[in-house]
Amino acid sequence: MEGVNSSSSISDLDDLARLLDRPRVNIERKRSFDERSFSEMGIFDNVNSPGGWETPVSSARNSFEPHPMVAEAWDALRRSLVYFRGQPVGTIAAYDHASEEVLNYDQVFVRDFVPSALAFLMNGEPDIVKNFLLKTIQIQGREKRIDRFKLGEGAMPASFKVIHDPIKETDSINADFGESAIGRVAPVDSGFWWIILLRAYTKSTGDTSLAETSECQKGMRLILSLCLSEGFDTFPTLLCADGCSMVDRRMGVYGYPIEIQALFFMALRSAMSMLKHDAEGKEFMERIVKRLHALSFHMRSYFWLDFQQLNDIYRYKTEEYSHTAVNKFNVIPDSIPEWVFDFMPLRGGYFIGNVSPARMDFRWFALGNCVAILASLATPEQSASIMDLIEERWEELVGEMPVKICHPAIESHEWRIVTGCDPKNTRWSYHNGGSWPVLLWLLTAACIKTGRPQIARRAIDLAEARLLKDGWPEYYDGKSGRFIGKQARKFQTWSIAGYLVAKMLLEDPSHLGMISLEEDKQTKPVIKRSYSWT
Ligand code: GLC
Repeated sequence: MEGVNSSSSISDLDDLARLLDRPRVNIERKRSFDERSFSEMGIFDNVNSPGGWETPVSSARNSFEPHPMVAEAWDALRRSLVYFRGQPVGTIAAYDHASEEVLNYDQVFVRDFVPSALAFLMNGEPDIVKNFLLKTIQIQGREKRIDRFKLGEGAMPASFKVIHDPIKETDSINADFGESAIGRVAPVDSGFWWIILLRAYTKSTGDTSLAETSECQKGMRLILSLCLSEGFDTFPTLLCADGCSMVDRRMGVYGYPIEIQALFFMALRSAMSMLKHDAEGKEFMERIVKRLHALSFHMRSYFWLDFQQLNDIYRYKTEEYSHTAVNKFNVIPDSIPEWVFDFMPLRGGYFIGNVSPARMDFRWFALGNCVAILASLATPEQSASIMDLIEERWEELVGEMPVKICHPAIESHEWRIVTGCDPKNTRWSYHNGGSWPVLLWLLTAACIKTGRPQIARRAIDLAEARLLKDGWPEYYDGKSGRFIGKQARKFQTWSIAGYLVAKMLLEDPSHLGMISLEEDKQTKPVIKRSYSWT
């Protein structure tokens, strides 16, 4: 691995940055999309036009006649807008008046705002996204403490609330960096989503001036300092506490969760394309290139699971010492759960939930796998395999409502131990095997990138049969996602925005460029996975 790392230089960095900074519409679609399936659907006709509902669509099948739900969704999304001194700066998590308990659903969550932001960008309304990016970078600058402990400077908030004082007629912001969150965990994903969104804004508008401001450059460097700092790590993956991302409760995702690793990878690559080539920027770019090499090798080798790999692990020897060990993390084959043998199709594969010493969490997590495709953390072959798996295991991973957050659910004794008896995360509910409509946009984006739009179409059809009628729930429960979630909010903004983004992506696939990165030759593994294990 050292050999790989030392091969990077600043001139490589320039090439890489140029590669990542290509204009939105042209190349990305050509290389990734199955043009045949798109032209059959009649949607390449408008690929060079700006996004938006005014865009004329020439489709023989009229498959993009605006669905009546689309207008309803836009109305609901606009109702969720949050203003600071008269300017829109985000969207509230849920606009659910029927719910007695507001908790923190009246706040703007950074991760929840991402699909809203993409919807606004795709609709040609970038200002709110710019306001949000600037507001959150200001909040990042605050000192943050949990009890007497001071958090790292770069930490981004999980959420913030605008407090309006009607007497003084002033607005102020109250942010939560984990100090109020249930479980007191700081969100590791917020900073990554922020960087990813800054790139989306830049790609979609062509306006590089925001990313170039000293505030944004500094904001990026602070986030990067936090996650690139050296410590006792022996792996390039990022060590996390349970509940530090979308799954923000104890769910056994501590360690090296796929969701964070995929977002980390995507944020590093996004930052590469936006950091200035000044002395400070170049120093970070060098560190990023090294980390990307090691991270992609590690993920593609050790997190990847397909039939062959499962069989290899099943036959592992244990207690191997030294560099020649095949079973590097000393995973005991008896720890492989029964379900995975039935679940794993001959065709297909995925990045498993977590890998650490003597521990492989074989659960499927949708967000991490979709982001891995979008960021090109997955090789083209792996991306295609993930889509194969989704097709082969449709009942389990999509069922009646897209998309299952993870599979399978944890039950009984394991649920007691792993979740700490969490009544909200009972089997097939919420984070424990629940179905989250917000994930529809990620699935759709991954489908488009891998040239499989028909899979997205099928998932969107399922959502359209119920989402509006059910009042845009936050999540669904049950093995196949048939029931509105036990404690699900209604009018959950990211369910609404996720649907809109999925629709717009399918209508105009050129939007994909703002949220997708092409494979970067420099992070290509030197050794292919199949050889690395033999
Ligand atoms: C829940 C979800 C979290 C989301 C928040 C606001 O806590 O687990 O991912 O950001 O609600 O919708």
